Amino acid sequence: MVDVRVAQVTRFGEPEVLVSAEAPDPEAGPGQVVAEVAAADVLFVETQIRRGGQGAYFGFVPPYVPGGGASGRVVSTGPGVDPAWAGRRVLVRTGNRGGGYAERVPADLGEVLPVPDGLGLREAASLTADAVTGLGLVENARLQPGQWVLVLGAAGGMGVLLVQLARAAGARVVAAARGRRKLDLVDGLGAEVSVDYSRDGWVEAVREATGGKGVDVVFDGAGGTLGVAAFGLVAPGGLFSAHGAPSGGFAPVDAEEARRRGIALRGIADLRFAPDEAVRLLRRALTEAAEGRIRPVIGQTFPLAEAAAAHAAIESRDVVGKTLLLP
Ligand SMILES: NC(=O)c1ccc[n+]([C@@H]2O[C@H](COP(=O)([O-])OP(=O)(O)OC[C@H]3O[C@@H](n4cnc5c(N)ncnc54)[C@H](OP(=O)(O)O)[C@@H]3O)[C@@H](O)[C@H]2O)c1
Repeated sequence: MVDVRVAQVTRFGEPEVLVSAEAPDPEAGPGQVVAEVAAADVLFVETQIRRGGQGAYFGFVPPYVPGGGASGRVVSTGPGVDPAWAGRRVLVRTGNRGGGYAERVPADLGEVLPVPDGLGLREAASLTADAVTGLGLVENARLQPGQWVLVLGAAGGMGVLLVQLARAAGARVVAAARGRRKLDLVDGLGAEVSVDYSRDGWVEAVREATGGKGVDVVFDGAGGTLGVAAFGLVAPGGLFSAHGAPSGGFAPVDAEEARRRGIALRGIADLRFAPDEAVRLLRRALTEAAEGRIRPVIGQTFPLAEAAAAHAAIESRDVVGKTLLLP
């Protein structure tokens, strides 16, 4: 039997536990296709799962192949699948079953979306998870033109989409990130104001930019003390929506204080999308990107065999936008 190359987590631990390995060439079962991968999505949460902290929650037990999705071309179709799928450019959502860090991925047709003409396979892969969450967050927030929106972690995979989506909704975007390179990126994506939240004075700078009023909405992709500081910037009647905790934990926001200030709180639990809903959001994202209304930002790519280096770069905060693996 022929083998294909995958990146496999051999045990929970540091990035070096993610190694190149061989696996049997997948066969398309009933109702399935197999895609030859062009680009595999890499997520921050996959570094946390690899460390072991959240492996049990997500159901991953080493050895396992990480990866919630990948783009590529259909190379085989299983029983019951229209053979016209063969050769099509597709995006495959493997989600919490993993398996995306591979040369070939099998998937049920319900997990497969055609990639529209005019959109590259790498660009499509970059949207797999971030665009579902980003679009879901922005739709749930019901942004109004002219509202001030603060995005924390604005230069990350999710952040670069949130900046653009909020801007497209007519909001005035304050993008917060660390370092000049990241601020330059978000400036180019339509942020009206950008602030370096690794430096003292960023909270005051945001307050000043909004004329002292504060922001209407926070999308917190950083968590911890940064999130707490951002919570203090929400104007009465506003929304504090937390989706990320790369700084070590979600912002410990005081629910009673939020009630007093009339601030609505949303968290990660509000971001569980039913499969149909996730597919609707992803289909919309692919169309928006194909028609040029959102611009995927692929900051860096790594060969599949160097998946460990990709994880290490994400953990060292050394990446911008999306990180992809290329078989
Ligand atoms: N992608 C999704 O679909 C999704 C869904 C639900 C939740 N989330 C969560 O949202 C957060 C952001 O996800 P993402 O995919 O945008 O990740 P990402 O591309 O790795 O970006 C994370 C950003 O967080 C900032 N950060 C702050 N403290 C950090 C630290 N200690 N280590 C690493 N980065 C740190 C970094 O920017 P600075 O250096 O500028 O601070 C980085 O740009 C994560 O917590 C993720 O689990 C993501």
